[in-house]
Amino acid sequence: MDWGMKNRLAQLIQRDGKVLFLPIDHGYFQGPTNKLEEPGKTVKPLLPYADAIMLTRGILRSSIDPENTKPIILRVSGGTSMARKEELSHEGIITSVKEAIRLNASAVSISIFVGSEREHETLLNLSNLVNECEEYGIPVMAVTAVGKELEKREARYLALACRIAAELGARVVKTYYCKEGFEKVTRGCPVPVVMAGGPKVESELEVFEFIHDGIQKGAIGVNLGRNVWQHDYPVAMIRAIRSIIHEGATPKEAQELFDEIKSGEKK
Ligand code: R5P
Repeated sequence: MDWGMKNRLAQLIQRDGKVLFLPIDHGYFQGPTNKLEEPGKTVKPLLPYADAIMLTRGILRSSIDPENTKPIILRVSGGTSMARKEELSHEGIITSVKEAIRLNASAVSISIFVGSEREHETLLNLSNLVNECEEYGIPVMAVTAVGKELEKREARYLALACRIAAELGARVVKTYYCKEGFEKVTRGCPVPVVMAGGPKVESELEVFEFIHDGIQKGAIGVNLGRNVWQHDYPVAMIRAIRSIIHEGATPKEAQELFDEIKSGEKK
């Protein structure tokens, strides 16, 4: 592996081998998502606790101070919207590799839709992006959005999508957690796996438990957005999650830390 690739991966994957990525890219197809109407404001208090942020070039330029030194994971696939839900898998490349270099991105991310009508196109998008990014030493993170047929989020479907992403050259793969057989997902994927959070859930303990369990089963951390910044106490949330990922806290210890920080954080 060349120095540039190694160095970018080292910016993302911390010395303990773990990661806490904070995605704020949801607007690329959802528009002004709840609590992300002003992404710059949302992310500011959370940045010190994230290992990297994931976003589009538009939000990076408009909402993030260029003096920011947190690594950037630049979302480079899109071109769809919630207004045409049935076509969400019809993503193309929306940002060039030249632009990613100009923006000093540490990695780029792209969605693939295994099991959807557009499976083939999105897998070729990933392959072509890897071809180009490898030339410049830029890691590609594949975001596995499983298609309609695979909505069940079962281990064998998630394992299928993750393995394909790795086979096509992704350096990191983002997937969902599943209660049953998640270890099969990570075992079958020869590159690091990170977990998304999905829609906000009711109790923070639920989030702490799935992150803890996913890490025990081989994930290296999270790329988790809504369950942090849609929470009434986002700083307490990200700090508690950080304690699980980087300090080996149990869900119970994370809950205690959350409660302690919450009491000092304004709603
Ligand atoms: C989808 O909009 C993005 O790829 C997100 O970055 C990803 O789903 C993780 O965010 P969340 O934890 O909110 O699901």
